[in-house]
Amino acid sequence: MNILVIGSGGRESAIAWSVARSPLVRKVFISPGNGGTLKYGENILLSLEYPFGEVIDFCEDAEIDLVIVGPETPLVDGIVDCLRREGIKTFGPTKKAAQLEGSKSFMKEFLARNTIPTARFRIFDDPKAAVEYVAGAGKPFVVKTDGLAAGKGAIVNKTVQETLDSINRIMVKREFGDAGNRIVVEDLLEGEEVSVFILTDGKDYRWLASAQDHKRIFDGDEGPNTGGMGAYAPVPFLDSVTRTMIEENIIKPTVAGMAKEGNPYTGILYFGLMLTPSGPSVIEYNVRLGDPEAQVILPLLETDFLTAVWACMHEELSRLTFGYYDGYCTGVVIAAEGYPDSYRKGDPLAGSFGDETNCFVFHAGTKALSDGRVVTNGGRVLCVSALGTTLEQSIRRAYEKAAKIDFAGKYYRKDIGAKGLKAIKNNNIK
Ligand code: AMP
Ligand code: GLY
Repeated sequence: MNILVIGSGGRESAIAWSVARSPLVRKVFISPGNGGTLKYGENILLSLEYPFGEVIDFCEDAEIDLVIVGPETPLVDGIVDCLRREGIKTFGPTKKAAQLEGSKSFMKEFLARNTIPTARFRIFDDPKAAVEYVAGAGKPFVVKTDGLAAGKGAIVNKTVQETLDSINRIMVKREFGDAGNRIVVEDLLEGEEVSVFILTDGKDYRWLASAQDHKRIFDGDEGPNTGGMGAYAPVPFLDSVTRTMIEENIIKPTVAGMAKEGNPYTGILYFGLMLTPSGPSVIEYNVRLGDPEAQVILPLLETDFLTAVWACMHEELSRLTFGYYDGYCTGVVIAAEGYPDSYRKGDPLAGSFGDETNCFVFHAGTKALSDGRVVTNGGRVLCVSALGTTLEQSIRRAYEKAAKIDFAGKYYRKDIGAKGLKAIKNNNIK
């Protein structure tokens, strides 16, 4: 098969890496790709403007058998609908189903209609009404833009004043543009956060993986939110009781609810969950793999990813058995100085940045120059992912490799996986 992967980040590197290893594959194209995706196939620059004419023309010319879409924006913009209309097989949700990520108010109302656990919430189109609600309640809330805001549209507040300031930033100062025309104001949840991924054909689903991301820039979960500074999988404190609660109370009603509402969800669905004292609760849905979660999930998967995707697209999930590496994978994101604010660019990569046994370097913000050098070109530059039979071993391998890679201003967290290690020690598990 000829495969086109859409996207340019670490997640798309991991997808292209998986696909390139598949026995089903002939040629891999990545659009636009990055300085590392050349290891897996050919980079090609295609416009992702609706209605995706350049992508459609390319798929026809290059005889693409399947398109795998990495990021949320083209999915929310309807790439799946546009390509499928032209007879091009595309993995992912339709525009309407992608509203689970594209609109927080759609998501919250869907959860409420289907009695799926989530934080209590109110939706506002008018800042005055939102301010009245918060002042009347006299407690802090999380304030979220309704629309996509590159992962920055959820503001977790510690005080009433901060909550009022967030409403002002989003609705009056319009810091997030039209994404903030409508907001969700929701109760704060407490607990451990986990990411759960499923593959679904709209009726049936298979559990793909669990992972834990590290969203803040600094160690100990301090500082501003980022796209994600590292992850590990699987999550050792997701015991079978919690997993059953997630499947029964969250996953099954989500898949069934979308189907019942005439809006079946197909593709990978990512559940951002908080394990609260009263049970798992949905923080968000994402309509794609996570970044950096993909970089730790795909190396663990021993079943061919492309075969799994193909089975999902042909409603043959029940025939699939997933095999996994018996251990853990840890991914450490190496970022450019300044990230998540403005950051340095154009610094050459040096040191040892090729893959090693059980250790993979997934490029994200990198660019290959015509002279063969690879330079930094984004906030999150690389993700170093390492397998280990224990979590401790995978963490150690990832950090040993991260230390061997050099570029000016490189930064990474030193505590990726620490919460998992603590849970393993406290609960005496492997
Ligand atoms: P979201 O964009 O909805 O995923 O939110 C981004 C991040 O904000 C989440 O990963 C959480 O860390 C945090 N967050 C969102 N909603 C809540 C909530 N209701 N309570 C506590 N933290 C939250
Ligand atoms: N790692 C968080 C995300 O992909 O949204």
